[in-house]
Amino acid sequence: MNKTQIDMNKIPNHVAIIMDGNGRWAKSKFMPRIAGHKQGMENVKNITEIASDLGVKILTLYAFSTENWKRPEKEVKYLMSLPTKFFNEFVPNLIKNNVKVQTIGDIASLPIKTKDAVNQAIEDTKECDGMVLNFALNYGSRSEIVKATKGIVQSISSGELESEDINEDTFSKYLTTSKFNDFADPDLLIRTSGEKRLSNFMLWQVAYSEFLFFDKMWPDVTKDDFKDMIITYQNRHRRFGGLNNK
Ligand code: FPP
Repeated sequence: MNKTQIDMNKIPNHVAIIMDGNGRWAKSKFMPRIAGHKQGMENVKNITEIASDLGVKILTLYAFSTENWKRPEKEVKYLMSLPTKFFNEFVPNLIKNNVKVQTIGDIASLPIKTKDAVNQAIEDTKECDGMVLNFALNYGSRSEIVKATKGIVQSISSGELESEDINEDTFSKYLTTSKFNDFADPDLLIRTSGEKRLSNFMLWQVAYSEFLFFDKMWPDVTKDDFKDMIITYQNRHRRFGGLNNK
């Protein structure tokens, strides 16, 4: 029978979210798209709090993809200003909740102000050892996989690695998520707004994740919705290709 209460002993270690629907949220309210992103950023605060309260270990949020540069210049500029705003307002709360900021993606190519804000937040929260709030920023999974492959080729050329020793574990070590060790792969992947695509997000890492597609637009997702999603996850039976773990 399906459970209706959260089991605090079965909280997913790594939850990843594709925060979709900011533009449609704004449009439905006759507001400009950037107002949706602003509200989306506000909601990052709520969901970070509830995930940390529940004991999630890594919360990965897809904030900007390598494909998002194709959006109108004004929207890109606004999205690039959001980390500065978010961290200015929220770092004290992150520290209070012992949340450590990390990133995946090509941070070096971000505008200097965005990069500085992100690096400052990483520095400010480096002593925190509770939940990791991991922003995927200027992130694309195919590019991450290509970079890992180049890294492996380099290690072989320099004699650090033998080609016979390449296996799934070795490959994982060359991905940017390897810093999360045992928690590199999301247990639960959520996409909001009703769309059912991966959009170049963590293609390798989600091989055995539970997928949850949620109809609400990201700015409308509440703490209670997040709890319900965790309950839905807990009612799934993960088998990892086998027959056990029922
Ligand atoms: C997708 O919605 C959302 C994004 C491309 C940006 C997500 C960013 C945030 C939620 C804020 C990030 C906050 C920080 C702190 C970096 P969409 O614009 O594609 O929506 P649509 O599909 O309805 O048009």
